[in-house]
Amino acid sequence: MSAKINQNFLKLNESYLFSEIARRIRVWQSENPEVADKLIRMGIGDVTRPLPKTVVEAMVSAAREMGEAETFRGYGPEQGYDFLKDAVQKYYTRFGVELKSDEIFISDGAKSDLGNILDLFDKDNTVLVTDPVYPVYVDTNMMDSRKIVYAEAGEENDFLPMPAPEYAADIIYLCSPNNPTGAVYDRAALTKWVEFAKEQGSIILFDSAYECFVTGDYPHSIYEIPGAREVAIEFCSLSKKAGFTGTRCGYTIVPDTLERCGGNLNKMWLRRQTTKFNGVSYITQKGAEAVFSQDGEEEIEENIRYYRDNAKIITDTMDKLNIYYTGGKNSPYIWLKCPGEMDSWEFFDRLLKEVYVVGTPGAGFGKSGERFFRLTAFSTHENTREAMERFEVFVEKLR
Ligand code: MLT
Repeated sequence: MSAKINQNFLKLNESYLFSEIARRIRVWQSENPEVADKLIRMGIGDVTRPLPKTVVEAMVSAAREMGEAETFRGYGPEQGYDFLKDAVQKYYTRFGVELKSDEIFISDGAKSDLGNILDLFDKDNTVLVTDPVYPVYVDTNMMDSRKIVYAEAGEENDFLPMPAPEYAADIIYLCSPNNPTGAVYDRAALTKWVEFAKEQGSIILFDSAYECFVTGDYPHSIYEIPGAREVAIEFCSLSKKAGFTGTRCGYTIVPDTLERCGGNLNKMWLRRQTTKFNGVSYITQKGAEAVFSQDGEEEIEENIRYYRDNAKIITDTMDKLNIYYTGGKNSPYIWLKCPGEMDSWEFFDRLLKEVYVVGTPGAGFGKSGERFFRLTAFSTHENTREAMERFEVFVEKLR
């Protein structure tokens, strides 16, 4: 007898994209200790601004409650406390979206639920992803051996692929504003995707983790589009919005109108969560509730403005150097074409070794990312300015 393993894991790249980048940085640092402290990280989208004061105070006070017999809490509701669900529900009304409380599921972030949701779907389903793509969508489906179809994004469609007959699929992943390209779908485009899903009976898994960076009249939520309640599940996170990358909290919306093959997906997700998840900690949910308070929102707006200013420093540099890019305006990501026709891992290695700046090679996000590179606006002002000065020197040398 021997336990049989999931052979699909053997088909995955040996390590997850950001683990591979971290490994290359460690190797470089150990070989170059004299300049290791000059490194500027603009690779993984990890925030640098601390948690807002209001959020910290709420968590400290919640921790105190946990230390007193009268206010101590044990297991909470798996789908989240009402106080946080109410705050999320109210937030959505700003976009004209009415949600029922039991359509909101508090999570420990978008990444986990984007993977976990696949428990609801048959392994025979075909999956559509846009390419370049956040690797989690691909890797989690490869683990289940689902067939994946790629909708190619490039300069010709401004990195915003649209529905086409060859993209027919049971499950469709959309991320807007997009990771990694920063491109954002407008209402007309999202309406086409919703109609496409409706015609095919597909389910859209909509990742709105970067919605707080949207400016102007772009949708923050897929439910702003008529008919989306019948075709879409939405995943959002407080990681980028409120600095929760280490604290971990997000929410998943599963409309109770979402039915397929005799199953109600909202009920199925509740069943899955009550079985496999014990909920996010009370302390974290109290911090998350404060994110939506007036003081919390003001502090968060200041942080988002800070990152937007960084994005402007980066896009100004790209404009000056006449480099093609997307993103940066409604997104913390700037997706640029590697200068000198360089391949993206080569660009990564040279930028690291020659000017000590880390970004993310486009190839790590799929075939269509091959000659592109992603920079994040999540660093400090000082480091962003310094990195762009070095970037400019590096690119000028190539010309
Ligand atoms: C990224 O850099 O793409 C993100 O930080 C990844 C994530 O949110 O999991």
